[in-house]
Amino acid sequence: MKKEPLEEPWFIKVADPCKPLEFDLERPLEIEVGCGAGTFLTRRAAANPDCDFLGIERMLGRVRSVIGKCRRAGIRNLRVLRLEALYAFHYLLPAHHARKVFVFFPDPWPKKKHHSHRLFGPRFLDALWKRLEIGGRIEFATDHAEYFQAVREWFAADSRYEPVAPMERPPEVWTEFETEFRSQGLPIHAAAWRTLDAPDAPLPPLTIPPECEPREGVKRRCENFDLA
Ligand SMILES: C[S@@+](CC[C@H](N)C(=O)[O-])C[C@H]1O[C@@H](n2cnc3c(N)ncnc32)[C@H](O)[C@@H]1O
Repeated sequence: MKKEPLEEPWFIKVADPCKPLEFDLERPLEIEVGCGAGTFLTRRAAANPDCDFLGIERMLGRVRSVIGKCRRAGIRNLRVLRLEALYAFHYLLPAHHARKVFVFFPDPWPKKKHHSHRLFGPRFLDALWKRLEIGGRIEFATDHAEYFQAVREWFAADSRYEPVAPMERPPEVWTEFETEFRSQGLPIHAAAWRTLDAPDAPLPPLTIPPECEPREGVKRRCENFDLA
Protein backbone atom coordinates (compact mmCIF):
# COMPACT_ATOMS: atom_id res chain seq x y z
CA MET A 1 0.00 0.00 0.00
CA LYS A 2 1.28 3.47 -0.86
CA LYS A 3 2.50 5.43 2.17
CA GLU A 4 0.89 8.83 2.69
CA PRO A 5 3.63 11.47 2.73
CA LEU A 6 4.15 13.49 5.91
CA GLU A 7 3.01 16.57 4.12
CA GLU A 8 2.58 20.19 5.07
CA PRO A 9 0.33 21.91 6.03
CA TRP A 10 -0.99 18.92 7.96
CA PHE A 11 2.18 17.45 9.47
CA ILE A 12 3.90 19.51 12.15
CA LYS A 13 7.66 19.17 11.83
CA VAL A 14 9.22 19.67 15.25
CA ALA A 15 12.62 21.14 14.50
CA ASP A 16 13.31 22.17 18.08
CA PRO A 17 11.50 20.29 20.87
CA CYS A 18 12.15 23.16 23.29
CA LYS A 19 10.33 25.74 21.18
CA PRO A 20 6.56 26.07 21.71
CA LEU A 21 4.55 25.52 18.54
CA GLU A 22 2.87 28.42 16.80
CA PHE A 23 -0.91 28.68 16.80
CA ASP A 24 -3.27 31.38 15.57
CA LEU A 25 -4.52 32.61 18.94
CA GLU A 26 -7.40 34.43 17.23
CA ARG A 27 -8.94 31.07 16.34
CA PRO A 28 -10.31 28.47 18.76
CA LEU A 29 -8.40 25.24 19.12
CA GLU A 30 -9.54 21.68 19.83
CA ILE A 31 -7.10 18.84 20.43
CA GLU A 32 -7.47 15.08 20.21
CA VAL A 33 -4.88 13.05 22.10
CA GLY A 34 -4.10 9.66 20.57
CA CYS A 35 -6.21 10.51 17.53
CA GLY A 36 -5.45 7.16 15.88
CA ALA A 37 -6.35 7.13 12.19
CA GLY A 38 -8.31 10.37 12.62
CA THR A 39 -11.92 9.47 11.83
CA PHE A 40 -13.36 11.55 14.67
CA LEU A 41 -10.98 14.47 14.28
CA THR A 42 -11.24 14.83 10.51
CA ARG A 43 -15.04 14.72 10.65
CA ARG A 44 -15.09 17.33 13.39
CA ALA A 45 -12.61 19.57 11.55
CA ALA A 46 -14.61 19.34 8.33
CA ALA A 47 -17.80 20.29 10.19
CA ASN A 48 -16.17 23.22 12.07
CA PRO A 49 -14.09 25.27 9.63
CA ASP A 50 -13.91 28.23 12.06
CA CYS A 51 -11.92 26.22 14.58
CA ASP A 52 -8.39 24.81 14.38
CA PHE A 53 -7.75 21.19 15.29
CA LEU A 54 -4.65 19.40 16.49
CA GLY A 55 -4.20 15.63 16.57
CA ILE A 56 -1.43 14.21 18.73
CA GLU A 57 -0.49 10.66 17.85
CA ARG A 58 2.64 8.60 18.46
CA MET A 59 2.23 5.99 15.72
CA LEU A 60 3.59 6.95 12.34
CA GLY A 61 1.17 4.83 10.29
CA ARG A 62 -1.80 6.42 12.02
CA VAL A 63 -0.39 9.91 11.49
CA ARG A 64 -0.13 9.09 7.78
CA SER A 65 -3.77 7.94 7.78
CA VAL A 66 -4.93 11.24 9.30
CA ILE A 67 -2.98 13.18 6.69
CA GLY A 68 -4.48 11.07 3.88
CA LYS A 69 -7.99 11.79 5.17
CA CYS A 70 -7.22 15.53 5.36
CA ARG A 71 -5.85 15.59 1.83
CA ARG A 72 -8.76 13.65 0.32
CA ALA A 73 -11.36 15.79 2.12
CA GLY A 74 -9.55 19.09 1.46
CA ILE A 75 -9.35 19.83 5.20
CA ARG A 76 -7.10 22.81 5.98
CA ASN A 77 -7.84 23.47 9.67
CA LEU A 78 -6.22 20.34 11.12
CA ARG A 79 -2.59 19.57 11.92
CA VAL A 80 -1.01 16.44 13.34
CA LEU A 81 1.85 16.22 15.78
CA ARG A 82 3.70 12.93 16.06
CA LEU A 83 4.84 13.14 19.64
CA GLU A 84 4.28 11.84 23.14
CA ALA A 85 1.19 13.73 24.35
CA LEU A 86 2.41 14.45 27.86
CA TYR A 87 5.52 16.08 26.42
CA ALA A 88 3.50 18.10 23.92
CA PHE A 89 1.10 19.36 26.59
CA HIS A 90 3.95 20.18 28.91
CA TYR A 91 6.20 22.08 26.55
CA LEU A 92 4.75 22.84 23.16
CA LEU A 93 1.19 24.16 23.49
CA PRO A 94 0.02 27.71 24.27
CA ALA A 95 -1.24 28.51 27.78
CA HIS A 96 -5.00 28.43 28.34
CA HIS A 97 -5.97 28.41 24.70
CA ALA A 98 -7.62 25.07 23.82
CA ARG A 99 -11.38 25.06 24.24
CA LYS A 100 -11.69 21.28 24.12
CA VAL A 101 -9.46 18.26 24.50
CA PHE A 102 -10.68 14.79 23.52
CA VAL A 103 -9.11 11.59 24.80
CA PHE A 104 -10.93 8.58 23.41
CA PHE A 105 -9.91 5.02 24.23
CA PRO A 106 -6.41 5.77 25.49
CA ASP A 107 -4.26 2.68 26.01
CA PRO A 108 -5.52 1.30 29.37
CA TRP A 109 -2.29 -0.50 30.35
CA PRO A 110 -4.39 -3.01 32.36
CA LYS A 111 -1.55 -4.65 34.33
CA LYS A 112 -0.80 -2.89 37.60
CA LYS A 113 2.95 -2.92 36.93
CA HIS A 114 2.26 -0.90 33.75
CA HIS A 115 -0.04 1.73 35.28
CA SER A 116 2.78 4.28 35.22
CA HIS A 117 2.49 4.25 31.39
CA ARG A 118 -1.08 5.54 31.54
CA LEU A 119 -1.65 9.01 30.16
CA PHE A 120 -3.94 10.18 32.94
CA GLY A 121 -2.44 11.03 36.30
CA PRO A 122 -1.43 14.18 38.19
CA ARG A 123 1.27 15.21 35.68
CA PHE A 124 -1.13 15.12 32.75
CA LEU A 125 -3.89 16.87 34.71
CA ASP A 126 -1.41 19.66 35.54
CA ALA A 127 -0.39 20.16 31.93
CA LEU A 128 -3.96 19.75 30.67
CA TRP A 129 -5.26 22.46 33.00
CA LYS A 130 -2.51 24.78 31.79
CA ARG A 131 -3.45 24.30 28.11
CA LEU A 132 -7.25 24.41 28.38
CA GLU A 133 -8.94 27.81 28.56
CA ILE A 134 -10.74 28.40 31.86
CA GLY A 135 -14.12 26.79 31.29
CA GLY A 136 -12.59 24.53 28.61
CA ARG A 137 -13.62 20.89 28.47
CA ILE A 138 -11.93 17.54 28.48
CA GLU A 139 -13.97 14.66 27.01
CA PHE A 140 -12.93 11.11 27.86
CA ALA A 141 -14.23 7.71 26.79
CA THR A 142 -12.97 4.19 27.34
CA ASP A 143 -14.18 0.59 27.27
CA HIS A 144 -12.02 -0.20 30.30
CA ALA A 145 -14.05 0.04 33.53
CA GLU A 146 -11.11 0.06 35.93
CA TYR A 147 -9.24 2.76 34.00
CA PHE A 148 -12.45 4.79 33.81
CA GLN A 149 -12.81 4.66 37.59
CA ALA A 150 -9.12 5.54 38.10
CA VAL A 151 -9.43 8.59 35.81
CA ARG A 152 -12.57 9.75 37.61
CA GLU A 153 -10.68 9.52 40.89
CA TRP A 154 -7.77 11.61 39.53
CA PHE A 155 -10.19 14.34 38.45
CA ALA A 156 -12.19 14.17 41.70
CA ALA A 157 -8.94 14.77 43.60
CA ASP A 158 -8.13 17.91 41.57
CA SER A 159 -10.13 20.99 42.56
CA ARG A 160 -9.31 22.74 39.25
CA TYR A 161 -11.85 20.55 37.43
CA GLU A 162 -15.57 20.00 37.82
CA PRO A 163 -17.55 17.19 36.22
CA VAL A 164 -19.99 18.08 33.42
CA ALA A 165 -22.26 15.97 31.24
CA PRO A 166 -20.23 14.19 28.54
CA MET A 167 -20.97 14.88 24.88
CA GLU A 168 -23.57 12.82 23.05
CA ARG A 169 -22.13 9.74 21.33
CA PRO A 170 -24.01 9.24 18.03
CA PRO A 171 -22.18 7.09 15.42
CA GLU A 172 -20.81 10.23 13.73
CA VAL A 173 -18.47 10.81 16.69
CA TRP A 174 -17.26 7.23 17.02
CA THR A 175 -13.56 6.66 16.59
CA GLU A 176 -12.15 3.53 14.96
CA PHE A 177 -11.78 1.86 18.37
CA GLU A 178 -15.24 2.88 19.52
CA THR A 179 -16.78 1.37 16.38
CA GLU A 180 -14.84 -1.83 16.99
CA PHE A 181 -15.67 -2.04 20.70
CA ARG A 182 -19.36 -1.39 20.05
CA SER A 183 -19.40 -4.10 17.39
CA GLN A 184 -18.12 -6.48 20.08
CA GLY A 185 -20.89 -5.31 22.44
CA LEU A 186 -18.44 -3.86 24.95
CA PRO A 187 -19.72 -1.18 27.34
CA ILE A 188 -18.53 2.36 26.64
CA HIS A 189 -17.84 4.62 29.61
CA ALA A 190 -17.70 8.39 29.01
CA ALA A 191 -17.14 11.41 31.24
CA ALA A 192 -16.23 15.08 30.86
CA TRP A 193 -14.91 17.87 33.02
CA ARG A 194 -14.50 21.62 32.70
CA THR A 195 -11.64 23.67 34.06
CA LEU A 196 -12.13 26.18 36.86
CA ASP A 197 -10.12 29.30 37.58
CA ALA A 198 -7.25 28.61 39.99
CA PRO A 199 -3.79 29.97 40.85
CA ASP A 200 -1.52 29.53 37.85
CA ALA A 201 2.06 28.38 38.33
CA PRO A 202 4.79 27.29 35.89
CA LEU A 203 4.79 23.56 35.24
CA PRO A 204 7.66 21.76 36.97
CA PRO A 205 10.33 20.20 34.71
CA LEU A 206 9.10 16.94 33.28
CA THR A 207 10.91 13.70 33.83
CA ILE A 208 9.92 11.18 31.20
CA PRO A 209 11.55 7.96 30.04
CA PRO A 210 13.60 7.79 26.82
CA GLU A 211 10.86 5.99 24.88
CA CYS A 212 8.67 9.05 25.38
CA GLU A 213 11.20 11.54 24.06
CA PRO A 214 10.53 13.50 20.88
CA ARG A 215 11.19 11.43 17.77
CA GLU A 216 11.42 11.82 14.03
CA GLY A 217 14.95 13.16 13.84
CA VAL A 218 14.50 16.00 16.29
CA LYS A 219 17.09 16.76 18.96
CA ARG A 220 16.76 14.31 21.81
CA ARG A 221 17.30 16.65 24.72
CA CYS A 222 16.72 20.18 25.87
CA GLU A 223 17.92 22.04 28.94
CA ASN A 224 14.85 21.55 31.06
CA PHE A 225 14.24 18.03 29.85
CA ASP A 226 15.38 15.84 32.68
CA LEU A 227 15.83 12.16 31.96
CA ALA A 228 14.96 9.70 34.71
C1 LIG B 1 -6.26 2.46 21.76
S1 LIG B 1 -5.76 3.59 20.54
C2 LIG B 1 -7.22 4.60 20.28
C3 LIG B 1 -7.12 5.44 19.03
C4 LIG B 1 -8.31 6.38 18.80
N1 LIG B 1 -8.42 7.34 19.88
C5 LIG B 1 -9.57 5.59 18.68
O1 LIG B 1 -10.37 5.62 19.63
O2 LIG B 1 -9.77 4.94 17.65
C6 LIG B 1 -4.72 4.68 21.44
C7 LIG B 1 -3.95 5.61 20.52
O3 LIG B 1 -3.28 6.58 21.29
C8 LIG B 1 -1.95 6.67 20.86
N2 LIG B 1 -1.22 7.04 22.04
C9 LIG B 1 -1.16 6.33 23.20
N3 LIG B 1 -0.46 7.00 24.11
C10 LIG B 1 -0.05 8.14 23.53
C11 LIG B 1 0.73 9.23 23.97
N4 LIG B 1 1.18 9.26 25.21
N5 LIG B 1 0.98 10.24 23.12
C12 LIG B 1 0.48 10.20 21.85
N6 LIG B 1 -0.27 9.19 21.38
C13 LIG B 1 -0.53 8.18 22.21
C14 LIG B 1 -1.61 5.30 20.32
O4 LIG B 1 -0.55 5.34 19.38
C15 LIG B 1 -2.93 4.88 19.70
O5 LIG B 1 -3.04 5.29 18.36
